[in-house]
Amino acid sequence: MVQTEARVVCINEIWLPGLERSNGRSLEFSLTISLDCPDIAREAKPGQFVMVNCGEKTLPRPFSINRVINGNELILFFSVLENGTGTKWLAEREPGDTVKILGPLGNGFTIEESSHNILLVGGGMGIAPLLFLAEEEISKGKSVTLMYGTPNKDRHPVESVLRKVKVVNATEDGSIGHHGMITELIPEYFDKADQVFICGPLAMYKYLHHQDVIKSKSAQVSLEVRMACGRGICYGCTIQTANGKKRVCEDGPVFDFNDIDWDSI
Ligand SMILES: Cc1cc2nc3c(=O)[nH]c(=O)nc-3n(C[C@H](O)[C@H](O)[C@H](O)COP(=O)(O)OP(=O)(O)OC[C@H]3O[C@@H](n4cnc5c(N)ncnc54)[C@H](O)[C@@H]3O)c2cc1C
Ligand code: FES
Repeated sequence: MVQTEARVVCINEIWLPGLERSNGRSLEFSLTISLDCPDIAREAKPGQFVMVNCGEKTLPRPFSINRVINGNELILFFSVLENGTGTKWLAEREPGDTVKILGPLGNGFTIEESSHNILLVGGGMGIAPLLFLAEEEISKGKSVTLMYGTPNKDRHPVESVLRKVKVVNATEDGSIGHHGMITELIPEYFDKADQVFICGPLAMYKYLHHQDVIKSKSAQVSLEVRMACGRGICYGCTIQTANGKKRVCEDGPVFDFNDIDWDSI
């Protein structure tokens, strides 16, 4: 784990109109920010995150590592929340500015060498850590299917990363792919996968929790909860699991789906 001053290389605005979090809070717009920080980039693995100091007025904020480029640049893909102090500050950075970050943090996804068919299930901003995982697994010659659900067809332009990934889309308005929720298609793909990785909003997890299909196989899920320290000190991110209380920042953010006590979250 390294604390460093990362230089902003570039920042690109990516619109995801109509995206709304399950708690009803709007996302104003989405961006990618590229940070030059070789010490963290070298160590990073898919599913891990960084804590970013977003100005003097707030505690650091957690963001998944979206991609690593050239072994030295970290890409974060994030949404500016309505009235979000930290995300607004980060969105206002410019190339050449420096940003204090701590990472890589958390356990990351566990990928078995013997797994060949990898299924990724993403909802909205949940695509952020899954792209890094897709890229890594494709480079190892694995077969990757991404099931991706959004409200409408305007979404993150991921084509360059995903040229070799089979993408299954679902949109709530039917503008592309399946008309409805991506979770409705899961039974069709679940059985064929050697391993399953899920990242999306809490509402998606709660829906899945009540489906039989999720109990038929183990799946790894990346959790988003409020964090203060991000490194296991404050216990502010504790959740209840089948193996007792766990800190999402230190013991997670990736857990076995069926180990989590979803009713307590
Ligand atoms: C492990 C992890 C990885 C994440 N990865 C991403 C990512 O790749 N892209 C992305 O857009 N967002 C990601 N998030 C959510 C992101 O941290 C919040 O959107 C951000 O902290 C909001 O900050 P703010 O100051 O703008 O909002 P404010 O509302 O001003 O923040 C107030 C408090 O609420 C917390 N908070 C608000 N919304 C969330 C949320 N949805 N999840 C967790 N904490 C929240 C903040 O951390 C802060 O403590 C991740 C969260 C976690 C825990
Ligand atoms: S955020 Fe402090 S222990 Fe997890």
